[in-house]
Amino acid sequence: MIRLRLLAVAAVLALATVSTAQEPVTMETCAMCHEDEAAAFASGPHGRAMVSVDAAVLDRSCVSCHGPATEHIDDPTTENINRFPDPGACLSCHPGREGMTDISTAAHVRNGVECLDCHGTGHTELKTDNMLTSAPHKLCAECHLSESGSFQMPYAHRDGTRPFECTNCHSVHGDNRQGRLAMIGSGGVCLDCHAEKTGPFVYPHPPQQVNGCINCHVPHGSPNPKLLTRHRVAALCLECHTDVPSFHDVSRPRYQSCQNCHAAVHGSNRDPRLMKE
Ligand code: HEC
Ligand code: HEC
Ligand code: HEC
Ligand code: HEC
Ligand code: HEC
Ligand code: HEC
Ligand code: HEC
Ligand code: HEC
Ligand code: HEC
Ligand code: HEC
Repeated sequence: MIRLRLLAVAAVLALATVSTAQEPVTMETCAMCHEDEAAAFASGPHGRAMVSVDAAVLDRSCVSCHGPATEHIDDPTTENINRFPDPGACLSCHPGREGMTDISTAAHVRNGVECLDCHGTGHTELKTDNMLTSAPHKLCAECHLSESGSFQMPYAHRDGTRPFECTNCHSVHGDNRQGRLAMIGSGGVCLDCHAEKTGPFVYPHPPQQVNGCINCHVPHGSPNPKLLTRHRVAALCLECHTDVPSFHDVSRPRYQSCQNCHAAVHGSNRDPRLMKE
């Protein structure tokens, strides 16, 4: 197909060389030799998304990803064309995404995880939203097997039987304000869904404030009820409260479940001893 066209195109180009050198190279130029790829791209998810914003973007898209290609057009080989764009190419049209270099997603950047590890190009139709190479939970699991496996634990964040999407809590592009972790929400990822546990309270329970929920809870999945880090609540509390008043006889079952009396473990508006909500 390409070969057959080449002769005709070469003739056209011989006449047109002067003007192509000056005018910006558009999709039309590439389509002379890559009709199938150009048509598939234009009608594919990326092409459609581009056209919905501005049809002119589609016109310059081939060179945005594959490079200026001036040499390639005159003397096409596989050597003088950029097959795989670098992330800079994507960022030229998606400036909002340079957050990839934020500290939050630095782990991805440091480890060379790039746009095309997660996204398709748009040359082929994909079954997912956002041109992801696979459905979000499968995509993350490809590289994070143990975190995704945790969602099979007896207690885990699930929506019915379906594990939560990782992207419920992690924002992969780094548009977050949570330091090391890529999280949604401004005050911590848990706040978005559990505002009643986060206060502010008249009598807050300090660990809440200082290090947040993951002092006591595992975010992904846990063998312990309520996603707690320890099986027995007393063991959890006594990690920090080594000096409970002496009438607390922690060898007795009555004192094993601290939350039976200190019901407001997350903070109270009425009682500094956290015994009433
Ligand atoms: C004059 C014809 C012609 C034009 C115009 C042309 N190409 Fe090519 N292109 C070719 C040929 C021939 C090949 C080599 C195919 C092969 O050997 O399999 C090729 C290969 C490629 C490859 C594949 C490289 C690889 O590693 O397999 C890409 C990507 C490509 N061209 C993109 C473009 C883009 C983008 C444009 C427009 C800016 C363009 N081409 C314009 C003829 C052309
Ligand atoms: C978002 C970036 C991007 C855009 C825009 C883009 N391509 Fe590609 N293209 C790629 C990547 C990456 C590959 C190689 C991997 C693949 O096949 O998906 C590729 C492969 C190709 C190939 C080699 C054949 C093949 O299917 O592997 C040709 C030819 C090609 N592109 C032409 C074009 C043309 C023409 C346009 C404009 C209509 C275009 N590309 C737009 C990223 C892009
Ligand atoms: C020539 C400009 C251009 C380039 C280069 C480009 N894009 Fe896009 N892309 C767009 C436009 C325009 C849209 C639609 C509006 C938007 O989401 O910003 C879009 C949409 C997307 C979408 C959402 C698709 C959907 O289904 O809604 C993804 C994902 C994407 N681009 C990823 C990439 C990646 C990855 C690269 C680099 C390999 C890239 N883009 C390169 C212009 C471009
Ligand atoms: C670790 C996987 C991963 C990497 C790497 C990645 N993305 Fe995404 N991207 C996603 C996911 C998942 C979504 C779906 C929306 C969401 O949940 O944030 C998405 C959505 C998008 C969208 C469309 C929705 C939106 O928010 O505008 C664009 C555009 C996009 N990504 C561009 C890029 C670009 C450009 C790069 C490289 C600089 C990149 N992505 C790197 C996973 C990734
Ligand atoms: C191509 C492989 C790959 C894919 C796909 C991928 N990651 Fe990663 N991710 C890594 C690597 C490598 C690291 C750094 C080493 C580590 O912590 O395992 C990392 C680190 C992380 C971290 C820890 C950040 C830190 O600073 O400690 C989070 C959170 C994360 N990824 C979330 C996700 C989510 C959510 C998805 C799916 C949208 C995803 N990743 C998809 C490879 C990947
Ligand atoms: C309910 C919110 C939530 C969901 C859903 C979630 N995470 Fe996390 N993730 C967190 C929190 C909070 C941390 C920080 C834990 C810590 O520092 O102890 C974290 C930490 C991580 C880390 C860093 C681990 C480390 O030891 O540094 C990775 C990687 C990660 N998550 C990947 C994933 C993947 C993959 C998914 C989907 C299978 C996922 N997360 C789903 C909240 C969540
Ligand atoms: C996207 C919303 C969402 C986010 C974000 C979220 N949760 Fe949840 N969480 C839920 C829902 C919904 C349930 C109830 C699930 C059920 O009934 O099975 C739940 C249940 C829980 C439970 C009770 C589990 C049980 O066994 O009763 C705990 C503890 C919990 N979440 C802690 C956290 C922590 C800590 C974070 C932050 C790392 C967090 N959640 C982030 C929605 C969320
Ligand atoms: C000091 C330890 C501690 C901290 C910090 C903590 N929790 Fe809890 N949380 C617990 C304990 C203990 C329980 C179980 C209470 C019970 O069984 O009655 C619990 C239960 C829960 C439940 C289930 C409530 C129910 O009614 O079943 C949710 C949801 C929850 N916590 C969310 C959070 C969120 C969100 C944060 C951070 C804002 C947080 N927790 C911080 C100890 C803590
Ligand atoms: C990560 C450490 C940590 C964990 C775990 C923890 N606490 Fe606390 N708690 C504190 C700190 C720090 C204070 C403030 C103490 C102070 O001001 O002297 C506090 C205050 C309290 C108070 C208010 C009385 C006081 O001394 O000010 C009660 C009651 C309490 N915690 C009960 C619990 C219970 C019950 C649990 C288990 C569900 C628990 N704590 C788990 C660190 C922790
Ligand atoms: C049977 C009810 C009960 C149980 C169970 C219980 N407490 Fe208490 N706790 C109290 C009472 C009542 C006080 C207040 C004593 C006072 O004001 O002098 C108190 C006080 C405290 C204080 C100090 C408060 C202050 O103002 O200095 C801490 C810390 C504490 N408890 C932690 C725990 C921990 C940890 C557990 C579980 C191992 C636990 N409690 C189980 C009833 C209980």
